[in-house]
Amino acid sequence: MTNVLILGANGSIARFAIDLFLKETDAQLTLYLRNSGRLKNVDSSRVRIIEGDVLDIEKLKEAMIGQDVVYANLAGSLERMAKNVVEAMDSTDVNRLIWISSMGIYDEVPGERYSSILDPYRKSAAIIEASDLDYTILRPGWFTNKDEIDYETTPKGEPFKGHDVSRKSVADLIVKLAVTPGLEVRQSLGVSKPE
Ligand SMILES: NC(=O)c1ccc[n+]([C@@H]2O[C@H](COP(=O)([O-])OP(=O)(O)OC[C@H]3O[C@@H](n4cnc5c(N)ncnc54)[C@H](OP(=O)(O)O)[C@@H]3O)[C@@H](O)[C@H]2O)c1
Repeated sequence: MTNVLILGANGSIARFAIDLFLKETDAQLTLYLRNSGRLKNVDSSRVRIIEGDVLDIEKLKEAMIGQDVVYANLAGSLERMAKNVVEAMDSTDVNRLIWISSMGIYDEVPGERYSSILDPYRKSAAIIEASDLDYTILRPGWFTNKDEIDYETTPKGEPFKGHDVSRKSVADLIVKLAVTPGLEVRQSLGVSKPE
């Protein structure tokens, strides 16, 4: 049984992932989010809810205690959040991190030029890559709401393939990474639907 801490638990991908974790694994989930009133349909005995901000380092450290995996599904001040997540994990001896980023952070998408909109994504990924954590960074393409699980991954250093990916696909990969020890550790993966 794996203890998984989900940061930004009301995010659009996180909601799909929570559903899959509950249906397909026996993982115990801790949902960390700023406003728990926004959560719907998660009345499982395997779910604990913590209302908190990722920028609140003390609260974050408290939430880390006893966790096996941290899955960060965040947007906004990603650099500050990445620093806090690394510091909180280091101080509580939690090693496994799944961090959701975006395609394009390494200027790896054929035919597209790097845009400064991605700076927080690029900088936060660099902070995680510089840590000694067992991280997996996911760089998904544009999300769709298609009810399908259909994706391929590309490693860092290779051109990104495809363009879109369903939220359900990203969630499927997150769940596999969380419950499979050693899978894609210290990797940064592009995720998209095969064309
Ligand atoms: N849309 C796309 O096609 C696409 C493609 C690739 C990558 N991405 C990126 O992938 C990531 C995940 O996507 P998503 O759609 O799941 O994102 P999302 O729905 O925007 O969720 C992000 C979550 O981060 C939470 N958050 C923000 N600041 C926080 C803080 N200080 N403390 C705690 N929680 C905080 C938000 O919580 P609140 O509810 O409290 O605001 C929100 O629930 C995002 O960074 C997104 O930009 C998106």
